[in-house]
Amino acid sequence: MSSDLHLDTSSHLDEATAAAVLALARRAADADGVDAISEAFRLALTSARGEVTHVVAYAGGSRPEDLLGYAARDGAGSAELVVDPSSRRQGVGRALLTAVLDGGATGVWAHGDLPAAQGLAAVEGLVSTRELHVMERQVRDGDDVDPVLPDGFAARPFEPGRDEQAWLEVNALAFASHPEQGSITLEDLQERMAQDWFDPAGLLLVEDVSVTQDGGAHPLAASHWTKREPGSDTGEVYVVGVHPAYQGRGLAGPLTGLGTAYLARQGVTTVDLYVDGDNTRALATYRRAGFEDAAIHVVYGRPTAP
Ligand SMILES: CC(C)(COP(=O)(O)OP(=O)(O)OC[C@H]1O[C@@H](n2cnc3c(N)ncnc32)[C@H](O)[C@@H]1OP(=O)(O)O)[C@@H](O)C(=O)NCCC(=O)NCCS
Repeated sequence: MSSDLHLDTSSHLDEATAAAVLALARRAADADGVDAISEAFRLALTSARGEVTHVVAYAGGSRPEDLLGYAARDGAGSAELVVDPSSRRQGVGRALLTAVLDGGATGVWAHGDLPAAQGLAAVEGLVSTRELHVMERQVRDGDDVDPVLPDGFAARPFEPGRDEQAWLEVNALAFASHPEQGSITLEDLQERMAQDWFDPAGLLLVEDVSVTQDGGAHPLAASHWTKREPGSDTGEVYVVGVHPAYQGRGLAGPLTGLGTAYLARQGVTTVDLYVDGDNTRALATYRRAGFEDAAIHVVYGRPTAP
């Protein structure tokens, strides 16, 4: 292990350190072909919100230019870590991994499940505890046409200021067993709505128009939130959720198609999405819709006692 390696653990990073971590993460993404730090952890770098603990690895001093690597863990026990490409195989990754696990992390993400992550996990005796599939599909002729929804359902775009609570309720119910997605709060939603990629017209709501509630509104049955970074020719099936009371009624396929049609009309050539390996119903829906595995992200954790 590098002799002048030291770790700084804190719940808040100053601006210069956060910027240096982002720059390191970008260098690593260029070298590895995949981002080691996901959106949620990237947002936590610059906002003091949430229960994220940052672990910064330095050589010698604690200046941004001494940065060797970075790890973070959230309140739910998820962690991510990345080492500068020029500082690998010197024990930095192992030190950061040990720090987040000892700090209470139960799973460490290996985005892309690169050979180095597999090697590090193996040497620490960790095993794969979750697999997240990245699926992809090229846009084809005719994809820009909205599919027909089952009788009694109609689609409309999300209206900021009106639809937040209904969306949060359906999201929480639809993702009750999903560690990250199900716990999204109004604050989290508003933070995403403030991002430059947010487009309310790309957050499609499907309502049960056979029922009219007080005030004339219809119950929200499902939603498909699409995401596209400005100018990108790739769009994402960002969050698809069906209210449990409306599951099994043939909504999943057309709901998926609504989002891909919207993205196709924005001119994207590729649509991608993330889905858990144990979500067999969603995997089947996306395979039927023509999506194929492009990559797999793995969470490594300590093996549970037999
Ligand atoms: C994975 C990663 C964090 C490893 O960082 P690192 O500082 O190079 O790791 P260490 O030097 O502490 O390596 C510890 C051990 O892990 C294993 N390992 C590390 N890199 C490896 C590689 N490229 N191939 C095979 N095994 C490797 C080795 O057993 C190594 O011990 P050794 O160097 O004595 O052989 C780094 O490659 C990285 O940032 N990758 C991109 C992000 C990522 O995948 N994060 C998820 C980590 S679970």
